[in-house]
Amino acid sequence: MSPINSAEQAPAGSESQPAAVPLAEAGESPSQEYTASESTSPAIHAAGLSKRFGSTIAVDSLSMTVRRGEVFGFLGPNGAGKTTVVKLLLGLARPTGGEALVLGAPLGDREARRRIGYLPELFRFQALLTAREVLRLHCRLLELPKATWEGQARGALETVGLLERADARVGTFSKGMQQRLGLGVALLGDPALVVLDEPTSALDPVGRHDVREIIAGLRERGATVFLNTHLLGEAEHVCDRVAVVDKGKVIATGGLDELLGRQSSVRLKVSGLGEHASSTVGRFGRWHREEDWIVVEEIDPARIADLVSAIVGRRGRVEAVIPEHKTLEARFLELLGGQ
Ligand SMILES: Nc1ncnc2c1ncn2[C@@H]1O[C@H](COP(=O)(O)OP(=O)(O)O)[C@@H](O)[C@H]1O
Ligand SMILES: [Mg+2]
Repeated sequence: MSPINSAEQAPAGSESQPAAVPLAEAGESPSQEYTASESTSPAIHAAGLSKRFGSTIAVDSLSMTVRRGEVFGFLGPNGAGKTTVVKLLLGLARPTGGEALVLGAPLGDREARRRIGYLPELFRFQALLTAREVLRLHCRLLELPKATWEGQARGALETVGLLERADARVGTFSKGMQQRLGLGVALLGDPALVVLDEPTSALDPVGRHDVREIIAGLRERGATVFLNTHLLGEAEHVCDRVAVVDKGKVIATGGLDELLGRQSSVRLKVSGLGEHASSTVGRFGRWHREEDWIVVEEIDPARIADLVSAIVGRRGRVEAVIPEHKTLEARFLELLGGQ
């Protein structure tokens, strides 16, 4: 079985577990008819959420909405306040201002908490327990029906690729294996919302790839994923929408396309255009030469074909066309620099 599907395994006798039945667009539906019930409210809705530690403002009047069923990236440099936000959302720390609803419930609601899977940024499992025992222990803490523990533990082990080490003690695990186990714990009980705080910080490229697959599997199952990360490549691959946070404030939010802008640049290897270069290429946007190449900055991708035919119309030879998209990293640095 592929690691993605195994998260869907519902062990026998699991009917009493809360089911994850998110509605992708629920956050946008009109709310006048509803109180904050579980499938009509956004997965997360924060309004003016704030947290001070003495004179440090870790979270500064933060507002955001995470829709049901989306993979939401919460991106920011170290110290931006990402972990603190997660702790507030999970009821592990109290806000000093503002409010939030998580799965339609106020912060700290025990029933809602049960439906949230959480991978903390820093954690340590009991070294003497085996991976399976850690998972069973967490099934118990989640108050899942006992008959489901074995199946839940097995499903989690399979999804995170630890089945073969199920009965080895956690004390013998590498950091990466411990992080996989942490992720397995976050998947127990088929949570409606999975909160991952820097899930790949200890993982090698294979492990990072696996985490992306696991997140894709969660999305397929309809779960909402809130992904805290300072690793932008990670967000670029898996997120539907992101918020960029710095100094406790959201400085940009939206779909990746929106955030990166529709404009991109294009690099063309052109010969034979001679003195016509400026009049031909200049109409399409700002441009410059780099040796044999012409680089047109900020061109609508739909106009690249017109650009090429304009060059050919002037008897230029086009040997290569390379569209260049702005990376999330470049945009991120722009956003952080532009405040
Ligand atoms: N328990 C705490 N006591 C005092 N300051 C804290 C505490 N937790 C976090 N901070 C401060 O809050 C800010 C945000 O930290 P954090 O949420 O961990 O950021 P991130 O997860 O984005 O790296 C930092 O300046 C950090 O030093
Ligand atoms: Mg953090």
